[in-house]
Amino acid sequence: MPKRDLISIEDLSRADVELLLDTAESFLPVLERDIKKVPTLRGRTIINLFWEASTRTSSSFDLAAKRLSADTLALKASGSAVEKGETLKDTAITLSAYSPDIIVMRHPSAGACQTLSANTEASVINAGDGKHQHPTQCLLDLFSMRQNLGRDLDGLKVFIIGDILHSRVARSDIMGFQMLGMEVTLVAPPTLMPRGIEEMGVKVEYDLANLKDADVIYLLRIQKERIKAGAAYLPSLREYSQLWGISQARLGPKQRVMHPGPINRGVEIASDIADDDENLIAHQVFSGLAVRMAILYRTIVGYSDGAASGEVL
Ligand code: CP
Repeated sequence: MPKRDLISIEDLSRADVELLLDTAESFLPVLERDIKKVPTLRGRTIINLFWEASTRTSSSFDLAAKRLSADTLALKASGSAVEKGETLKDTAITLSAYSPDIIVMRHPSAGACQTLSANTEASVINAGDGKHQHPTQCLLDLFSMRQNLGRDLDGLKVFIIGDILHSRVARSDIMGFQMLGMEVTLVAPPTLMPRGIEEMGVKVEYDLANLKDADVIYLLRIQKERIKAGAAYLPSLREYSQLWGISQARLGPKQRVMHPGPINRGVEIASDIADDDENLIAHQVFSGLAVRMAILYRTIVGYSDGAASGEVL
């Protein structure tokens, strides 16, 4: 198959997204078997480069490739030649000598996946690049919504609350949620709301006055690692929690809470929600495995629907 990158949600049409979600659904029975492995990608090589910390994305891509019987190679910046000053271009050229089919990469810099793609014949999948995009998170969020809230997400009202400014998840989710017909409202302190974000077709609010209108409350982590020391984004985490944090007391009976993880317990999300089975957070993690299996599979076999849902295996 020709090279097919997934660097931004904009790389996918609505039909592509729906095919990926259907493909992920067709993998669910595999994940319920005693032997959770199929030979679908036997002989294929998938390299996972995580140049920035990750638990969910790195583990689910690794496991997804193994469930599909691909050969996997995982590298982190720490302990690699990056520590000796090797450039991303030279890492790409080096690893391409193994003729990988796919390179999955997380990187702290926006745009790093384009640099990688320009220097390898492998398809590149963005596992999160700086503040730019996290398209596979968006796809697993859509999958979780479809599994829990119904296949037709058209008209669903989603409030994304938190550190929008530093969030690649917000950028991907806004695009993906709107693609499937959802209405997106962003809520954040003014300092954590990107200027001009209204141009993406979202509503922008600075407090929780209209929270009752939300069907889904999608919380974002306050990204302490991207908030530079000394910058006055927030008076204090305690004040953030009081004004924008979500606890059961602020939640209506039918509202569902999502969070990409990792959570800041007691900051954007109270423990009474984090530990409540009604939230979709654990389901989002579960969805990550099926969705990333679907992404690896479709990247290699193609997005034309020769194999419809249920025919994949
Ligand atoms: N949601 C997400 O990307 O989590 P990790 O940083 O643990 O991969």
